[in-house]
Amino acid sequence: MLNASIPHQIWQLITLVILDISSNQILGSLPKEIGQLAKLVVLDLSNNMLDAVIPNRIGNLRHLVTLNLSYNNISGSIPPEIGRLFLLETLDLSHNRLIGNIPDQVGRDPLSVSVANFSHNRIGGEIPNNLGNLPDYTQLDLSYNNLIGNIPKQLGMLKLINLSYNSLSGYVPMEIYCSFPHNILQGNKKLLGLQKDLSCSNHTTTPSPAEKLKRYLRIILPLTIFLGFLFIGALIFTRYLHKKKKPKTIVQRNGDIFSVWNYDGKIAFEDIIGVTEDFDIKYCIGTGAYGSVYKASLPSGRIVALKKLHGTEFQDPSFSKSFHNEVKMLTEIRHRNIVKLHGFCLHNRCMFLIYEYMERGSLFYVLRNDAEAEELNWSKRVNVIKGIANALSYMHDCKPSIIHRDITSSNILLNSSMEAFVSDFGTARILDPDSSNQTLLVGTYGYVAPELAYTLLVTEKCDVYSFGVVTLETIMGRHPGELIFSLSKTNSTQSIILKDVLDSRLPLPLKKDAQDVVLLVTIALSCLSSTPKSRPSMQQVAQQLSVSKQPFHVCFEEISLQQLMNRDMFVVGRN
Ligand SMILES: *[C@@H]1O[C@H](CO)[C@@H](O)[C@H](O)[C@H]1NC(C)=O
Ligand SMILES: *[C@@H]1O[C@H](CO)[C@@H](O)[C@H](O)[C@H]1NC(C)=O
Repeated sequence: MLNASIPHQIWQLITLVILDISSNQILGSLPKEIGQLAKLVVLDLSNNMLDAVIPNRIGNLRHLVTLNLSYNNISGSIPPEIGRLFLLETLDLSHNRLIGNIPDQVGRDPLSVSVANFSHNRIGGEIPNNLGNLPDYTQLDLSYNNLIGNIPKQLGMLKLINLSYNSLSGYVPMEIYCSFPHNILQGNKKLLGLQKDLSCSNHTTTPSPAEKLKRYLRIILPLTIFLGFLFIGALIFTRYLHKKKKPKTIVQRNGDIFSVWNYDGKIAFEDIIGVTEDFDIKYCIGTGAYGSVYKASLPSGRIVALKKLHGTEFQDPSFSKSFHNEVKMLTEIRHRNIVKLHGFCLHNRCMFLIYEYMERGSLFYVLRNDAEAEELNWSKRVNVIKGIANALSYMHDCKPSIIHRDITSSNILLNSSMEAFVSDFGTARILDPDSSNQTLLVGTYGYVAPELAYTLLVTEKCDVYSFGVVTLETIMGRHPGELIFSLSKTNSTQSIILKDVLDSRLPLPLKKDAQDVVLLVTIALSCLSSTPKSRPSMQQVAQQLSVSKQPFHVCFEEISLQQLMNRDMFVVGRN
């Protein structure tokens, strides 16, 4: 029951994605500052008492998918800039007091609009031919306006139109007459019906039963024969497909593509919607940058994790790009420390990936839960780090090498026996040796290698740095934070004793564990070197971790970080 005007501060929320204040009693106008909300995907101000004109700056909202201003008191004309909202799917301006023409710009460039409703206004002028260029799935409602002139035959291409209660005149094009029910033309007193020599029927008035039968036969007979052939053709084609693509199941429903790989076709879309009650929040086990993760127990007893991309986000080309990256890369990777991808679903309204489910969640979560952190004892932590090192070394060894670019403790998942699996390849990409590796900064603050801040040059050494951070975090039980900065200052590390930074929830490591911890911290410190060249490669790290350790001859409790930093374990920068 909001009943004031929209506060002007709203127009400063420049990262706002959804603004829905529909069905209130909001008054006032729409300022041009609306153009500042350039990230807006949904703008729903419908069913209010806005007494506004639509500002031209609406054309700045390039990400708009839904624009609903219906049921207001909006006057003025429709800004031509509407024709530039290329991602728009729903455009509802109905039940207002709009005047003027429908701008020629709407439909001049390709739009993706599926519902365009201009009904119940006072829009005049002729119907622009360009409206016929709207996609063939568009439903266009122009009813209850003051439109004049002829009906452009191009509108026959659309899925559904409504032209009733206007002042249209002239003959009705056959394309319109034969494609739609006749009540879409009601209330246009000056329409002349079909031209005499055309085949559909002579008048818009109800035809006689005999004529009706004749017309139906004329349409239905060829259609039946055509459908018959189509059916036989489809039968042969599906057989052929079936033979060709045994391991993949691709089910096509109403034009949506749904695909499940490598899972004996045992996961069905309906099962997933069923067991998650259409992605009910109670099955949600986490949220990431690109989407939410759900747990689904399938009827077969298998448990899988679903990473669902937020509904509006995959409209954004960069999101759908990241989705495809993730799918492509994961299906090509098979490694015992990398999360398995079972399949994916691309549905008209949702997009998700189906992963192997990891019982213990992320390393980040386990380290922040006292009971679980204690369960993750020294030898398990050492194994976790070895697992990450093996996975990264494997990825970097691929030709061309695959850089993860966002290694953090949240992207390391643990199974029931606390073994580590690297996940989330959304930002990774195959390094093309020919292209420059300059990209936008991706990654997580606190894990990103320092050189990325100024060069934006992604190399394997960026992963090595993040690996160093995660290793220290695992040993310390918390993000190393400030410690990393003090590493570059020689005098400050002298005073830091190793045992003081270890996770205090665990007893001090003994014997073999102590040796392993010393080795891990030594490796981590060399990975955190601020010059990429002096960091070891992941192959060198994995190899160091796999060989047996030389015992050290100092008392564990006295080792300082400075001593570990000076150990020359790797011969780096020389090959
Ligand atoms: C726009 O909003 C009105 C009122 O809130 C609603 O009835 C209508 O369905 C919406 N239009 C579309 C196309 O969703
Ligand atoms: C819409 O605006 C007109 C003219 O300003 C006014 O007469 C009318 O009462 C308004 N209607 C509503 C529902 O606010």
